[in-house]
Amino acid sequence: MRAEAIEFENFDHMQDEACAQRIETAKKTLGKQVVLLAHHYQRADVYRHADLTGDSLKLAYQAAQTDADYLVFCGVHFMAEVADILSSDEQTVILPDMAAGCSMADMASLTKVERAWRELAEVLSPDETVTPVTYINSAADLKAFCGEHGGIVCTSSNAGKILEWSFQQREKVLFFPDQHLGRWSGYQLGIPLDEMAVWDFDEPMGGLTPEQIKRAKILLWKGHCSVHQMFQPQHILRFRNQHPDGIVISHPECSFEVCSASDYVGSTEYIIKTIAAAEEGTRWLVGTELNLVSRIAEEFKSQNKIVQFMSPLVCMCSTMARIDPQHLTWALENLANGTVVNRIQVPQTDAGLAKLALERMLSIS
Ligand code: 13P
Ligand code: SF4
Repeated sequence: MRAEAIEFENFDHMQDEACAQRIETAKKTLGKQVVLLAHHYQRADVYRHADLTGDSLKLAYQAAQTDADYLVFCGVHFMAEVADILSSDEQTVILPDMAAGCSMADMASLTKVERAWRELAEVLSPDETVTPVTYINSAADLKAFCGEHGGIVCTSSNAGKILEWSFQQREKVLFFPDQHLGRWSGYQLGIPLDEMAVWDFDEPMGGLTPEQIKRAKILLWKGHCSVHQMFQPQHILRFRNQHPDGIVISHPECSFEVCSASDYVGSTEYIIKTIAAAEEGTRWLVGTELNLVSRIAEEFKSQNKIVQFMSPLVCMCSTMARIDPQHLTWALENLANGTVVNRIQVPQTDAGLAKLALERMLSIS
């Protein structure tokens, strides 16, 4: 018989250190039944408890491969949805705080994407000429839309390959929700900037004329990440003036100007690997979320690598930070007590088609 859920109120005021001990105790009680997955942006006091860590692509593979009964996801909502879609029906995915969303993912909804598709049909035949590509930072129903319309999912580490595949299928791409990842990846493939048009989802016909739609190779959804938009080319300029030998690395969610001014551009996993492989004594400016940059700075201090954060402002993924030690303790102690709280379960209707779009991605990554 299932025990009554223990209310979160009992955990809200707990000290972080007390939480750390109780998290470890609950993990020991649950043993191999549970696995904790954490994204690289996760705060340090949660990340330290993770069994598996990675960027979005690596976490998707790990979720598909683990045989634990319970996957406790320390990341944001769309990542937990992907874990649910790719794990088996017998496995249960838990997101310790349901408010851990992604503001970029929220910039595209099924209603708006379906409207865009209908509007495109006034100018061309989208199901014959446009491959819909959704960044993994999107809700499951948008992945299902891509599955249904011959489209695919991409992450920041495979967007180039996925675009190549997409252009092998059809002549144009509708890329949502992150215009910056779409623009940077398209440009890397040799598509000129004037053949990419921004689709403003708040305007009829995306704010574009029929001629602009016909001319565009990629239609870029007008979405962005509120964290990565804080990084500016002048931050790079100042760094280069102060440290001419310094190296700049950025996440492709940064603006085109920031990516163009960087020496390297890639996913969170790529950023970690690139700095890890660099020579001792090198100095880095990193354009991505603060928790990750602080962790890298600490980790490579022993190799005399100096790792600096790109912005003078604090840019954290505040939604991911909602997964705090208190919520993690609450979710794990309930689980150890026989109760599942905050289960992420993608409806069957979306899960099948979303899986199709995800599997297309995994098969060519
Ligand atoms: P990565 O897949 O590079 O970890 O990026 C996920 C993300 O949300 C970046 O903001
Ligand atoms: Fe979403 Fe930006 Fe947070 Fe990544 S950093 S999860 S894109 S809000």
